Amino acid sequence: MSATPPWPELEAIAYGGDYNPEQWPRETWREDVALMREAGVNLVSVGIFSWALLETSEGVFDFSWLDEVIDLLHENGISVDLGTPTASPPAWFFARHPDARVVTREGAVMGFGSRGMASHSAPAYRRASVRIATELARRYGRHPAVVLWHVHNEYGVPVGEDYSPHAVVAWREWLRARYGTLEALNSAWGTAFWGQHYGEWEHVGAPAAAPSVVNPAQRLDFARFTDHQLRACFVAERDAIRAHAAQPITTNFMANQSHTTDLWAWAREVDIVSDDHYLWAPDTEGEIGLAIAADLTRSVGGGKPWILMEHSTSAVNWQPQNVAKRPGEMTRNSLTHLGRGADAILFFQWRASRSGAEKFHSSMLPHAGTDSRVFREVVALGEGLGRLAEVRGSRVRADVAILWDFESFWAQDLEWRPSDLLDHDERIRAYYERFWRDGITVDFALPGHDLSGYRLVVAPAQYLLTLADAENLTRYVAGGGTLVVSYFSGVVDEHDAVHEGGYLAPLQTALGVRVEEFLPLREGTTAGVDWDGKRLEADAWTEDLVLVGAEVRAAYLDGPAPGRPAITRHRHGNGTGWYVSTRPDAAGLAAVLREVYADAGIAPAGTPAGLEVVRRHGEAADYVVVVNHADAPATLALAGTDLLTGTASDNGLTVRAGGVAVVRTHPSLGGRH
Ligand code: GAL
Repeated sequence: MSATPPWPELEAIAYGGDYNPEQWPRETWREDVALMREAGVNLVSVGIFSWALLETSEGVFDFSWLDEVIDLLHENGISVDLGTPTASPPAWFFARHPDARVVTREGAVMGFGSRGMASHSAPAYRRASVRIATELARRYGRHPAVVLWHVHNEYGVPVGEDYSPHAVVAWREWLRARYGTLEALNSAWGTAFWGQHYGEWEHVGAPAAAPSVVNPAQRLDFARFTDHQLRACFVAERDAIRAHAAQPITTNFMANQSHTTDLWAWAREVDIVSDDHYLWAPDTEGEIGLAIAADLTRSVGGGKPWILMEHSTSAVNWQPQNVAKRPGEMTRNSLTHLGRGADAILFFQWRASRSGAEKFHSSMLPHAGTDSRVFREVVALGEGLGRLAEVRGSRVRADVAILWDFESFWAQDLEWRPSDLLDHDERIRAYYERFWRDGITVDFALPGHDLSGYRLVVAPAQYLLTLADAENLTRYVAGGGTLVVSYFSGVVDEHDAVHEGGYLAPLQTALGVRVEEFLPLREGTTAGVDWDGKRLEADAWTEDLVLVGAEVRAAYLDGPAPGRPAITRHRHGNGTGWYVSTRPDAAGLAAVLREVYADAGIAPAGTPAGLEVVRRHGEAADYVVVVNHADAPATLALAGTDLLTGTASDNGLTVRAGGVAVVRTHPSLGGRH
């Protein structure tokens, strides 16, 4: 089951972070590498924002300082993840190509002195990006220190949609390729509405801000186009690098923090998936959001080990209140990523910047220096990870999949939906959270994937569902799967047009129910659901359902549809389709899912509250990663050796409050395989 480790050159879990030596004098570089060694750092990402210092004017290159940095790192046994600096074009570029700047939906032209800024559709930007990527690959494509390429930075953030004249030209080309004829475009967009019908291609514009809502089908296509343009930039740079270099190529995703890019498609283009993750301070259980991001990253990469390219040692600097991590939290976060499939634990950034917009961002080496809690924890984490080399390549397996479909999110997020309380992220989190608390490991998947290996598939928010994908889900149920679909799913097709037959019609066979009318609730009001005589509380949303064979598992007690079905269950073929037409609170959802588990033949792991346990399956052994988020020690029935401490246990492994363990244990067959 083990994969080849991502970098045969690195015989360990990769550990390190973004390194920006250009912000420091040469003496500091020497101190940096000495301290990196002390901290167990073996990989740093270099050059991500260095374009202006590498190509000092158009076509004039100066690699001398980068040569020196890379050689110094190499002499000290530290490998390099080499960035292409194309997220930050130099001042000379914009002086020469003012038309290559990004234009917002409202028509504002973006200025210089930040990052991003360049239109991904501007031919001059594409040419310049490929040129600098080519020069870097020529020079460092065979350098023994360089083990990985890091193209650009976080495509889609801060520049996603672009309404510049170059973008509009490219958009029309993209539409011509997609639809062929104007008739097809008019039909797909439903332009008979509000007099939008087009008679000439030149009249088709980007969906810029308008007096009222702009055609949602047009906007959905623009989201697809934006993703396509960004990916085309990546592919162009990647191919330029490949022509001269042999190392694997990645670009850092933001799995759970930006929905601009369709990561399922992106994952097919990279050699290894990498992700950036930052805790969101208002979320007091950020470890659950973190687990979602990690599971999603692993899933888009097809289950292969991945790279945590960035996270923070402590506070970030860009949230309303930037909350510092508490002692041990950085280690817990790191181990959760590792448990969920990461073979590299990297940070933004190595040394805190003195100047610039990010000077209040935490780092591995903080402004306070080495005599600091953060640096001591960084050193301890490096030591711990140093004992985990054998974990590399092992795989996580899951019995449950949650559907995560970027196209559906793009469509759902457009204006004039039936309620502003409809929130796909919230629904996914609610279902995921139950699995997390029950110790059940989850993969994410698309509705069109082969789902037959999963016992349970949950669709918390599948607003857009193509007929082909609905058929796939129906086949999944017929084949013996258990499917749970939450409200406001199966509503529109790929053009954001309501399905013929009405809401949920494409899933009628699998679920035995369809939706006659949406019945959204006023904010702050609730509806009760009768669950075997117990009242479950729900809010935000209810529906008027029409049964087409399903049994009523629970009816509304009150709200707009008292006595009408709220939750249904349907046998189809060898499987079962559940439909939940409302938003139960956490206790209510737990009650419903308990019964769903029984249908699916899965059981909660029964782990103590606050204990996160994930198993990675290796060839000769399994590795159980245990993270204790609770304030009290917890004991787990598990035999094996904790690789972090060397302690062996026969059956009871006790993890101290806030502590972690990585237990080598005998292989098990559990989960999907
Ligand atoms: C990331 C970005 C880094 C740094 C970091 C700060 O999104 O890739 O360059 O800005 O955020 O949290």
